[in-house]
Amino acid sequence: MRESRLWFWHILSAVVILVLLGLHMGTMHLSELLHMAGIGSGEPVDSSQVFRRSQQAVYMITYILLLGTGLFHGLYGLRSIFFELSLSRSLEKLIGGVIAIAGIALFLYGSYVAVIVFQINGV
Ligand code: HEM
Ligand code: HEM
Repeated sequence: MRESRLWFWHILSAVVILVLLGLHMGTMHLSELLHMAGIGSGEPVDSSQVFRRSQQAVYMITYILLLGTGLFHGLYGLRSIFFELSLSRSLEKLIGGVIAIAGIALFLYGSYVAVIVFQINGV
């Protein structure tokens, strides 16, 4: 039951990543096209552009969402790969615990950065 619920979240997270990463890649790689259409500067990784985006609530929220779904999807997938190796139950538990702690730590750190940069004024 727990495994099928986690698997459901794995698939759902893939759908969220598909949308948000599509937008993220579009922002990072198609800005030259947008620039030609008169939108943006055409320099998406210029620090002024990075801060301009990061200080808008909608970006901060979607960064945290992409961070959370990306970490969950990637780490749950990694856990599934380990679990296919027919390891002992105790080793599976250990691997699951380490992956969960790593995921939570990375999520807290990444979210903290997104919130701090959002709060900085006038960079
Ligand atoms: C467009 C975005 C993505 C889509 C649509 C997608 C979709 C999927 C699907 C359908 C599965 C198979 C789930 C299953 O049947 O159990 C899967 C597995 C997996 N995904 Fe993704 N994924 C995406 C992005 C990513 C990213 C960015 C990562 C890395 C951070 C990742 C890492 C994995 C891993 C490690 C597995 C497990 C592979 C295995 O069990 O052999 N995926 N993904
Ligand atoms: C060449 C490809 C990529 C480039 C150039 C890029 C660039 C950037 C930049 C400049 C930022 C800072 C925020 C902003 O300026 O909007 C950012 C944030 C972020 N990117 Fe990417 N990125 C790339 C690929 C990816 C991929 C493949 C993923 C996930 C699978 C990803 C996930 C994220 C997340 C979650 C954040 C927010 C992190 C946080 O605030 O803690 N990026 N990216």
